[in-house]
Amino acid sequence: MLRLLTCTVLVAGLALAAQPAKKMLIAHRGASGYAPEHTFASYQLGIEQKADFIEQDLQITKDGVLVCLHDITLERTTDVEEVFPDRATVENGVKHWYVADFTLAEIKRLDAGSWFNAKFKGARVPTFAEAIQLVRGKAGLYPETKEPEVYGKRGFEMEKLLMAELKKHKLDAPNADRKTPIIIQSFSPASLRKLAFELNSKLTRVLLVHDGSEKQWLTPDGLKEAKKFADGIGPSKTLIEAEPKIVQWAHELGLTVTPYTFRSAAVGKKYKDVREEMRQFLFTYGVDALFTDNPDQFPR
Ligand code: G3P
Ligand code: CA
Repeated sequence: MLRLLTCTVLVAGLALAAQPAKKMLIAHRGASGYAPEHTFASYQLGIEQKADFIEQDLQITKDGVLVCLHDITLERTTDVEEVFPDRATVENGVKHWYVADFTLAEIKRLDAGSWFNAKFKGARVPTFAEAIQLVRGKAGLYPETKEPEVYGKRGFEMEKLLMAELKKHKLDAPNADRKTPIIIQSFSPASLRKLAFELNSKLTRVLLVHDGSEKQWLTPDGLKEAKKFADGIGPSKTLIEAEPKIVQWAHELGLTVTPYTFRSAAVGKKYKDVREEMRQFLFTYGVDALFTDNPDQFPR
């Protein structure tokens, strides 16, 4: 009887061990194919479309508050040009409204929805704290330290602000809240090194790799270097498509692979639609996760 029980437990254990790891879905700037990026509406929709993580790109206001916005300037996704016409910085004859030149109170006056569709008029730029409150318990958070070197010149340490905000919400340690895992991503190796070695963060880190820096990072030696401060890599999808062996090289080192960005508005030429494209990356190339503007198209 005991032998039978032991056998059953063993077989069950083997079956469990043989299960492939779950492929992770990251809602890129929220469900940004359907609602204005980095708004409560896009985050909420990402949750409803069953994303495992909701992504936040981070910027810093003049008064030192982390906000969720992709660009370092406000003009593409808000009406800053109309609300603050005289507050632009002119560079080479072009006007820019930098996030860091505006206080949080000023940024909260901006409409971050109308540029996408009139029905989202009045949507606001969320703070990172508000994003945490909205997403917590429903999905993971996937913050990106954006342009930390630029903010460093203005006297801000984005990584410290990020860890302080996570600490305030008791999310600064791995598995602090099982329903709300945290992964930090950056194109800046210096930013990830600072998190790992200066701030001693144990949270998972992913090094983003853009077209042009593949020779530095996406070779067996480059990946070994990345492994010193990152748990995974996030290359553009075109880099994986050009050299699918990157996935195997990364996996051999224990690095995860999470390419960006899959969107129905820009599907690779050889695919019928974004779902087919995501399927190829997940199940043929073998990536672990991906960023998409269209979470509802993620093949399960
Ligand atoms: O962070 C992954 C992907 O979002 C990187 O591109 O420019 O959309 O932040 P970007
Ligand atoms: Ca991003």
